[in-house]
Amino acid sequence: MSVDDNNKRIEKLRALINEHNYRYHVLDDPSVSDAEYDRLFKQLLELERAHPELTTPDSPTQRIGAKPLASFPEIKHEVPMLSLENAFTPEDMLAFDRRVRERLGVDEVVYLAETKIDGLAISLLYEHGALIRAATRGDGTSGEDVTQNVRTIRSVPLTLRGPEIPALIEVRGEVYMSKAGFHKLNQEQQKIESKVFANPRNAAAGSLRQLDPAITAKRPLAFYAYGIGQFSTDFMADTHAALLQQLKSMGMPISPETKTVTGVDGCFDFYRRTANRRAQIPYEIDGVVFKVNDRRLQEQLGFISRAPRWAIAYKFPPQETVTTVLAIDVQVGRTGALTPVARLDPVSVGGVTVTNATLHNEDEILRKDVRMGDTVVIHRAGDVIPEVVRVITDRRPAKTAKFVMPAHCPVCGSAVKREAEEAVARCSGGLYCPAQCIQAILHFASRRAMDIDGLGDKLVEQLFQRQLIANVADLYGLAIEQIAYLDRMGTKSAANLIAALEKSKATEFDRFIYALGIRGVGEATARNLAMHFDTLEKLSQAGVEELERVPDVGPVIANQIKNFFDEKHNQAIIDRLLAAGIHWAPSATSTTAQRLRGKTFVLTGTLAAMTRDEAKHRLQSLGAKVSNSVSRKTDYVVSGEETGSKLRKARELGVAVIDEKSFLKLLEEK
Ligand code: IVH
Repeated sequence: MSVDDNNKRIEKLRALINEHNYRYHVLDDPSVSDAEYDRLFKQLLELERAHPELTTPDSPTQRIGAKPLASFPEIKHEVPMLSLENAFTPEDMLAFDRRVRERLGVDEVVYLAETKIDGLAISLLYEHGALIRAATRGDGTSGEDVTQNVRTIRSVPLTLRGPEIPALIEVRGEVYMSKAGFHKLNQEQQKIESKVFANPRNAAAGSLRQLDPAITAKRPLAFYAYGIGQFSTDFMADTHAALLQQLKSMGMPISPETKTVTGVDGCFDFYRRTANRRAQIPYEIDGVVFKVNDRRLQEQLGFISRAPRWAIAYKFPPQETVTTVLAIDVQVGRTGALTPVARLDPVSVGGVTVTNATLHNEDEILRKDVRMGDTVVIHRAGDVIPEVVRVITDRRPAKTAKFVMPAHCPVCGSAVKREAEEAVARCSGGLYCPAQCIQAILHFASRRAMDIDGLGDKLVEQLFQRQLIANVADLYGLAIEQIAYLDRMGTKSAANLIAALEKSKATEFDRFIYALGIRGVGEATARNLAMHFDTLEKLSQAGVEELERVPDVGPVIANQIKNFFDEKHNQAIIDRLLAAGIHWAPSATSTTAQRLRGKTFVLTGTLAAMTRDEAKHRLQSLGAKVSNSVSRKTDYVVSGEETGSKLRKARELGVAVIDEKSFLKLLEEK
């Protein structure tokens, strides 16, 4: 083949690969599998290796290549990289909007709302479409040249695409690490006993500041563009929204969490919605940014010191706060597990008052060395239980004592035992221990178990302390008159509870197994047990060997199940429950009913027709397995609205993705 032919093939492959990159990183709509992409990439690599003279720096194979640096050269920003003014309260936002309106002399302003991505600001300089320099923000006037490292970030285009490429454009945006990428990186770091990062921002910054680009290349970094710096006169856009679209058409990834909103009410609305969805957004954010959309108006407003007058960052309340530990209590769980809990001087974290924080287990509390009287940093994320991050040892009062796990259960006085390989210490009191009894009853009543509406912890505690119930079977013997006079109850709520108990009697076999609270038997195992043994009788008489045939059941859990059913006391309670009228439909074993048996599904995003829990139950009733994470074993990913990393992972692994319409059809099929 002639040099010309080879060059043509190389160019064609590069164009194809660039197109696939664009579809994947910018449009989030890949058209080929990973394997196909890899095949093309390998072809290009081989051709370039055979013809080094035809290799160009903008080839997609040339992301890594440069040698490690001794240090990063300093560069000067032609247009300073500004920061943003912050708003922390609705009043701050109202004041910002008022100032903007007054300066412009208008009644209402259209803003472009974006998420405030928690990464680090980067400037990318493109000359005639080629990436020639990438720099950090530094002090805003000059930063560090990190071109080599930025070139390894796959979502940063090495060349711009499309017919209207400006002679010069400086794209600005944020280099970040997705939450999923961050967790994976930390797991790997732990495995190789290397430094774990405190949060995705630190991980992104640390990864970008590696002198060896080969290390950066291995880190899951990504990029979203949110603005521009210097540009040649052939670049035009009237609004900030149009500017982002134009960048997108040139191959720049733009966050999908972007929306034009009208007036300050529109800003509040966007802020609220985004705050509510924060946990679902695949990358860390610490607030939202509002920018006057009209670029002429932006120019009119100009700058004050180091921030534009036309933009503001409305921050979410911090999720970390400092407070003091008033006491350390030890709580006893359903299985007797002892959990140390820090009682805190109440503080507001992210808008919620926090009075307790978990210290997980003995090893954790000793590792962090949390003591009574300590000043601690606490963290609260989403709906998760707040936890103690670390102690500020400088502020430790004199004469504090190290925490010691009690040798006896703080509730029933039984001995505390800790198995050699377990992290948890347990009360050995079993059902003699009131704490374990109460927790077992609460578990039995919980939504995913027997789903007894209205039976909360305060009520169970009262029922137990007044000796109205001693175990779960006693629940079904309760009478309205016994409940009505309890604190915060009355005839109406008592009648509601009786009705809820009645309703709970019609259940499902797997829910019932789960409700029993056998150690090691979670929802998934309960389901497998229900599927394997179609009657309770068979399950309760099964030997260890038979139990071990059930998926997910190993020798330890098999023994725990067997011990549970061997216990006469447990058997008596089960008999009483059945006598009270608890029942379920016999297991559906016909092939039509179980036609999704052996298939694994992952649900992602929101479905319009049903909640995720409902979708899960429907699938399980057809014999399918529903898993939380996508792996090679996944058969289908069901993708609702507003999906994120799971979809990406599915595409990476070549797993079939079906939309809600196809999913509903699949459920309905006969
Ligand atoms: S605009 C002139 N938009 O926040 C405007 N910044 O506090 C300059 N950031 O240094 C920035 N997400 O690192 C803008 N959607 C977004 C952003 C964003 C994150 C960061 C950026 C900047 C800092 C300012």
